Amino acid sequence: MKTIKLNARTGWILLIVGGITIVSTSAAIIARTSSSNDPDKCLPTVIAHRGASGYIPEHTLGSYALAITMGADYVEPDLVMTKDGALISRHDNELGLTTNVAQHPEFADRYKTQTVDGTEISGWFTEDFTLAEIKTLKAIERIPDIRPGNARMDGVFEVPTFQEIIDLVKSIETSQKRSIGIYPEIKHGSHFKNLGLAMEQLVVDTFHSNGYTGQDSHAYIQSFEVGNLKELKKITNLRLIQLYESDKSAQPADQVILGTGLTYGNMSTPEGLVEVAKYAYAVGPDKSYVIPRNDDNTLGQPTTFVKDAHAAGLKVHPYTFRAENAFLPKEFQSTDPAPSARGNLAGELRAYLEAGIDGMFSDQPDVPVGIRGKC
Ligand SMILES: *[C@@H]1O[C@H](CO)[C@@H](O)[C@H](O)[C@H]1NC(C)=O
Repeated sequence: MKTIKLNARTGWILLIVGGITIVSTSAAIIARTSSSNDPDKCLPTVIAHRGASGYIPEHTLGSYALAITMGADYVEPDLVMTKDGALISRHDNELGLTTNVAQHPEFADRYKTQTVDGTEISGWFTEDFTLAEIKTLKAIERIPDIRPGNARMDGVFEVPTFQEIIDLVKSIETSQKRSIGIYPEIKHGSHFKNLGLAMEQLVVDTFHSNGYTGQDSHAYIQSFEVGNLKELKKITNLRLIQLYESDKSAQPADQVILGTGLTYGNMSTPEGLVEVAKYAYAVGPDKSYVIPRNDDNTLGQPTTFVKDAHAAGLKVHPYTFRAENAFLPKEFQSTDPAPSARGNLAGELRAYLEAGIDGMFSDQPDVPVGIRGKC
């Protein structure tokens, strides 16, 4: 039995739970007891970029779990494929950047050089490993100079599968008593399709078989490519997000193959955004599309990107908000000059919220949650 009495004028709340009376002045009580637990109703949407990757090595169950307990609405796994067709979470199909594969002599002969989406890369690639082999590796920190704390956890976590991430989210939803969204990105879609390891149908099937089927499901699928999003639109009702690279003259990898000439710059004009809105629910631009930097690395004036996207009916979720000096505009950096020192991410975020964004990707999701409050 639970009674809630709220005095709106004074803000006092009387909670009677099973005969125990609790009096609180905290607005947080209201949020926990009477608000919707729909992460889409809680704005701006806080998307934990690669998990809480500012604190725990990216794309690990530890990183996602911390992000959720920090109050993130969505966790963001990047997905690539194994040789035997399993979806795993890594930012790149190259494994040397974020795993200890280089310390496994049994895999030394898999080292190779190849071109992925137009860039020549040397290393060990997920498409040459079975899931069982991937599971013998351990995650390491991508940027140990900037995140030395994270690097202390090198070797602690496995590389998770997409299904393991869904299981983690559903598990913590039970203990947190709220719904938590999943916001995966299909990485290198054309590259994997060419190898006979297309990811799109498998991502959709995995979501659908786990109960994420409708437009209202707390799930998004993102891609920097265009063709795969249009294909996805035909096979699922889940919401789709078009990502934009920072370089406006760059082209989506599938458009390069097709020879259309379409650039991210073309897709960011008012007319371009209207085209994107035919298949996407939201856009995920590099944050410079919303507020570019001045030559002295301070924040400039907001562009019309948010207004134009909203006019086309699109939500705007820019990336990536990071608390270390190395990533912040000059005026929000800390007085400690070290690139690893944490500056005023909240200050930068406020400028973007003022510019009208609907959500954001952050490596430190506790900072935007701290501005907005938990939902
Ligand atoms: C993209 O923009 C460039 C530069 O404004 C223009 O020349 C080109 O025709 C556009 N291409 C497409 C496919 O819209």
